[in-house]
Amino acid sequence: MKAGVDRYSSVAIALHWLIALMVIGQIAGGLYMHNLPKEQAELKFQLYQLHKSFGVTVLFLTMLRLGWRLSHKAPPLPAAMPAWEKAAARGAHVGFYVLLVALPLVGWLIVSSSPYADSVQTYLFGVIHWPHLPFFDGVEDRKALSHDFAEIHEYLAFAMIGLIGLHVAAALKHHFINKDTVLAHMLPAAGRRA
Ligand code: HEM
Ligand code: HEM
Repeated sequence: MKAGVDRYSSVAIALHWLIALMVIGQIAGGLYMHNLPKEQAELKFQLYQLHKSFGVTVLFLTMLRLGWRLSHKAPPLPAAMPAWEKAAARGAHVGFYVLLVALPLVGWLIVSSSPYADSVQTYLFGVIHWPHLPFFDGVEDRKALSHDFAEIHEYLAFAMIGLIGLHVAAALKHHFINKDTVLAHMLPAAGRRA
C-alpha cells in the first residue's frame, strides 16, 4: 500500500471482517456450548469440535493478518484526533492482536492438558487431525490444570467482549459524531460510496 492512502488494503479489510465475524461466533458459540447440559452430549461434542476448528482458523488468519500488517502501511488517523485518542486506538489494536493469539493458544492448552486428552482428539472441520501440546504427561492433577486454563480462557474472552464494545463505540462515534473517515478506512469500496 502507498503511504498516505485513505484506507486499509483490500486484504487487510477482508481479514478484519472475516476475523471479526468468527470471533463474535466463537464468543456466542463458546458460551452456548459451555452451558449445554450433559444430556446433550453428542451436540456438545460436535459444537466443541466446531469451536476448536474455528478457533484454530482464527489463529492462522491472525498470523497472516499480522504478517500483512507489518509489511503494509495503515492509513493515518485524522490529524485533528488528539494524541491521547490516537494512543488509545493503537493500544486497543495491539490489545486485539494479543487476544487474537492468546485466546486460541489458551484454548489449545485447555484441551491438551485435559485428563481426557487421549480419548477426545481434535479434528479440524472433521478432517484434519490437530495434535495436542505434549507438555502434560507428568502432571499429577491434570483436571485442575485444565480447569485453570479454562478460567483464563474465559477471562480473555470477557476482555475481548469489553474491547469489542469500546472499539465499536469508537468507530460509530467517529462516523456519526466526528463525521471523519475512520470507519471508511475499514469499509470495502461499495460501503464507502454508500
Ligand atoms: C478467537 C478464538 C476463541 C474465542 C473467542 C473463544 C471463546 C470462548 C468462550 C467465550 C468460551 C466459553 C467460556 C466459558 O463459558 O467458560 C470458550 C470455551 C472453550 N473454548 Fe474457546 N475460544 C476461542 C478459541 C478456542 C480454541 C482454539 C480452542 C481449542 C483448541 C478452544 C477451546 C475451548 C474449550 C475447550 C472451551 C470450554 C471450556 C470449559 O468447558 O470450561 N477455544 N471459548
Ligand atoms: C468483533 C471483532 C473485531 C475485532 C477483533 C477487530 C479488530 C481490529 C483491529 C486489530 C484493528 C486494527 C487494524 C490495524 O491497524 O492493524 C481494527 C481496525 C478497525 N476496526 Fe475493527 N475489529 C472488530 C470489529 C469491528 C467492528 C464491528 C467495526 C465497526 C463498527 C470495526 C471497525 C474498525 C475500523 C473503522 C478500524 C480502522 C480504524 C483505524 O483507521 O485506525 N471493527 N479492528
